[in-house]
Amino acid sequence: MASSMLNGAENLTLIRRITPHGLGSIKSDLHGKQFPRLNLVSCGQNLNARTQAPRCSLSASGPASQLRFIQHKKEAFWFYRFLSIVYDHVINPGHWTEDMRDEALEPADLSDRKMLVVDVGGGTGFTTLGIVKHVDAKNVTILDQSPHQLAKAKQKEPLKECKIIEGDAEDLPFRTDYADRYISAGSIEYWPDPQRGIKEAYRVLKLGGKACVIGPVYPTFWLSQFFADVWMLFPKEEEYIEWFEKAGFKDIKLKRIGPKWYRGVRRHGLIMGCSVTGVKPASGDSPLQLGPKAEDVTKPVNPFVFFLRFILGAMAATYFVLIPIYMWLKDQIVPKGRPI
Ligand SMILES: C[S@@+](CC[C@H](N)C(=O)[O-])C[C@H]1O[C@@H](n2cnc3c(N)ncnc32)[C@H](O)[C@@H]1O
Repeated sequence: MASSMLNGAENLTLIRRITPHGLGSIKSDLHGKQFPRLNLVSCGQNLNARTQAPRCSLSASGPASQLRFIQHKKEAFWFYRFLSIVYDHVINPGHWTEDMRDEALEPADLSDRKMLVVDVGGGTGFTTLGIVKHVDAKNVTILDQSPHQLAKAKQKEPLKECKIIEGDAEDLPFRTDYADRYISAGSIEYWPDPQRGIKEAYRVLKLGGKACVIGPVYPTFWLSQFFADVWMLFPKEEEYIEWFEKAGFKDIKLKRIGPKWYRGVRRHGLIMGCSVTGVKPASGDSPLQLGPKAEDVTKPVNPFVFFLRFILGAMAATYFVLIPIYMWLKDQIVPKGRPI
């Protein structure tokens, strides 16, 4: 299984400990070069005011608000206009296997077929196929900004009864206290304002409902860091936890995932690197107040700048298509039991 390849830490769960001094620790039994210690920055009394206090930023890769090349909604739209053609066949086998998906969904606790589930950034429905193993398809809604990705989901027989809608993760078309489960896999990296998306997750969940956000982790290897910073958002593990906490979630947990042939290596930043869950402790909207959306998608863009950013972003993405192939080859060559 995918997580069992993480240095034998099958049931590894990183649990956020809340201390009076902001971030306490994330517990990990991972060790060695492949699993660098988590360096957490304490925000002291200012944890709840981090957006106003940049010194508390937990991102080593620059603030989440600094948009990478494919992190603008128009760019994400065009990126998936083309990528959707090969998405299921080229991207998922390298980064998001069925084993990984099932491992990542396990903390979502899909324990009742009648649960109402929203799959945000559901794309071609790859994760939804994992959801409908546990929940009746008629109770599942797939939302995505890309009609091209959704067209692929519509073709999948097990998803025929799902509701499929276009929409924005940062402005969900669901009423407050609507769903039992909020799932989003591999989409947060394209959201210009991830904190807003997680606040929306909180809002649409019922009291006691659970959010499960699966996403990338930031690389530690310098070249991978460079390409990650160029392409899209690769959050650090502690950033996920802080976004969940600020949105108002309780019982926040983070589980590491990865393809089995990586043997637990995380230095290149996994596009599907962790599954973060949190429980909504009270009904109603999130206690977090945010101003208006920073990104104005209706604003005209310079076509030359758009094209240049798009090409550079797509080139950086190619690096991450090649990384799993490189890791797979290493796994084949390096004797079992040795680090790669
Ligand atoms: C890597 S794909 C993941 C698809 C699917 N969840 C899976 O597991 O295969 C990311 C998806 O997020 C969608 N996306 C990106 N930004 C979005 C946004 N702001 N709102 C909704 N969907 C978004 C993209 O269109 C794309 O389909």
